[in-house]
Order: sequence, then C-alpha cells, then structure tokens
Amino acid sequence: MTFEFNIPKPIDAHVHLRDGAILSQVAPFTARQFSYAIAMPNLLHPVLTTEDAIAYRKRISAAGKSGDFTPLVTLYMTDDTPLSEVKKAKDAGIIGIKLYPESATTNSEFGVTDIKKTYPLLAEMEKQGLPVLIHGEVTDPNIDIFDREAVFIEKILTDIIKNFPALKVSLEHLTTTQAVNFVSGQKNIFASITAHHLLYNRNEIFKGGIRPHWYCLPVLKREEHRKALVSAATGSSKKFYAGTDSAPHLRANKESACGCAGCFTAPNAVELYATAFDTAKEFPQKRFSDFMYGNALEFYNLPPVKSKITLRKSAQKVEDTISDIIPLLAGQEIAWQVVY
Ligand code: NCD
Ligand code: ZN
Repeated sequence: MTFEFNIPKPIDAHVHLRDGAILSQVAPFTARQFSYAIAMPNLLHPVLTTEDAIAYRKRISAAGKSGDFTPLVTLYMTDDTPLSEVKKAKDAGIIGIKLYPESATTNSEFGVTDIKKTYPLLAEMEKQGLPVLIHGEVTDPNIDIFDREAVFIEKILTDIIKNFPALKVSLEHLTTTQAVNFVSGQKNIFASITAHHLLYNRNEIFKGGIRPHWYCLPVLKREEHRKALVSAATGSSKKFYAGTDSAPHLRANKESACGCAGCFTAPNAVELYATAFDTAKEFPQKRFSDFMYGNALEFYNLPPVKSKITLRKSAQKVEDTISDIIPLLAGQEIAWQVVY
C-alpha cells in the first residue's frame, strides 16, 4: 500500500519570485504547494517602500493564479529606510523588513553598509513588533566563504540581540551548527531552513565537476553542519521552519564562467523537504507539519488556513527545465509527490 498523509497547506517563509515574465512562470509552482509565501524584496528594482510592497503583493497574487494562496511581502532595508516606514509597513500588513549586508548575495548592492546605521530602525521595529529577516553572512572578502555565517553571528548578530532583546528576528536560510546553537539559545530569534541545505553538503557542488545548479548563498557546508540542520528541523523546537530560498535564474546566468547563486526548488519544494524528513522508521508527520506550517504560522502570527495538501510516497521525475530555468535535480527521480 502506498503511504500518504495530509498536512495543512504549508508556508514558504523565504522565496524569490522575481518580477515580470519570470514571476508569471514561477509563482504558480509556489501557489500550488504553499498557502502563504514570504516573497523576498531583492528585485532588480528593490522593494523599498510600503507602496512598492503593496503593488508587488498584487502582482504576485495575480501571477499565482490560486484561490488558496496568500503572498506575503517584505521591504528591503537600506541605510536610508526612514523610521516612519516601519509603522506604515506594519499597518499595511507587510510581514517584515529584510536586512541584506551590502553585496552579500544576488541584488544586494543596495544593502546595509554598516550595521550600526540600522540601529535606530531596529529600535523602531522592536517597538512596533515588526520582524527583521536577516541574511546572516559577513561580506568581508578576507573571511573564508564557508565561515561567513558563523562570523556574522559572532560579530554582528550577538550585538543586535544585546541591543534589541525584544526584536523579532528571523535568521534566514541557516547553514551551520553555530547558527542552530545560537538560535536555540535565544528567546526571540527564529529561523528558516532550506530543503537543499537539509539534503546536501558541499561535496554536491563538485561531484564529477563543477555544478552551478548546486551553488547558492549561503553556500552548502560540511556534512556535520547538514546533520545539525536536520536535527533542528526534525526536533521538537518551535523555532525552525521551512523557507525554500527557491531562487530562479535563467540557465545562461547559472551555467556561465561566473554563475550566479541560487537553487530553483519551487516546483517540488514540499517533496524535497519530505525526503529530508524521511530518515526514521516512521515518518515524523507531526514534526513535519509543524516545520512546514505551524512554526512559521506562530512566529508571523498568521491566520490559520483550512486547505490541506496530500503527500504520497511515490516516485516522480523532476522536470528537465521550466522555460529557461533549470530546477534542482532536473530530470532526476525523487521519492515523494504532492498529490494534485
Ligand atoms: C538568492 C537570489 O538569487 O536572489 N540567491 C541565493 O543563492 N540564495 C539570494 C539570497 O537569498 O541569498
Ligand atoms: Zn534568499
């Protein structure tokens, strides 16, 4: 007999949906698997104001083409984000403000140049109860790329927490043991974890040659870190939730002498997470449901949803290509399906 079960339609706490033609291509994949998705604001023209965010939310809704999908949007923090924007954003249902250190990743050139410059804004966010979503990597080129998350925690995040103990923080796309330990030990910090960081270690980037579709930021880490992430995700803590970080890039931009960062996982995101959870004798359904839905619902204080999805343990093949975007594991078999 095939094994299947239902969970509430999940929440993707971190996804890149882009804009224009790419938005129309990728949004339906997210909308069919997720009830809510938090769309990142690093568009070519970043989402800087509440008005920009409201307009972007409407474009995502239209592109998602699903009645039981609600896009959630964030603002992109710069050195100059005005304090008055915090309450305005909160009142408009903007879910948080994303902090990118300048040049940490794709389209982050407008990011924060010095963390101290953000402190008045973080103080206002703490006061208004608006979460900050943090890309937690230092950008100093002298710091080894595999250490940038751990150094960010030690040098920057620790200080933020000390100064703003009541600030709601979502540390995005965790990749290290240090991050898991840090989040576990703090009251108001929660965290998203991607499916690819649960499933793979850094060897995957170099298997048989350099494989650009496995390159993302933060970069995949050693096996010991992957194991720590799996323990965090599948454990009893309410602090960890799914955030796919699905990041579509055109094939030519990935398969290039200087390929850009991002794994496109939206078409089979929930199945990839199920694969990562499918390690014990008995599938941990309750833990999976909390990680995929309940924990983010609680952190972001969202209204519960009625829709459910059915997961079935039955193999399927991942599409080779979606227009000109290559999904992770293109053409390969995965062991799970969401039943539509
Ligand atoms: C993301 C993108 O392409 O926008 N890339 C990635 O490797 N994750 C940006 C990000 O979240 O860092
Ligand atoms: Zn991202």
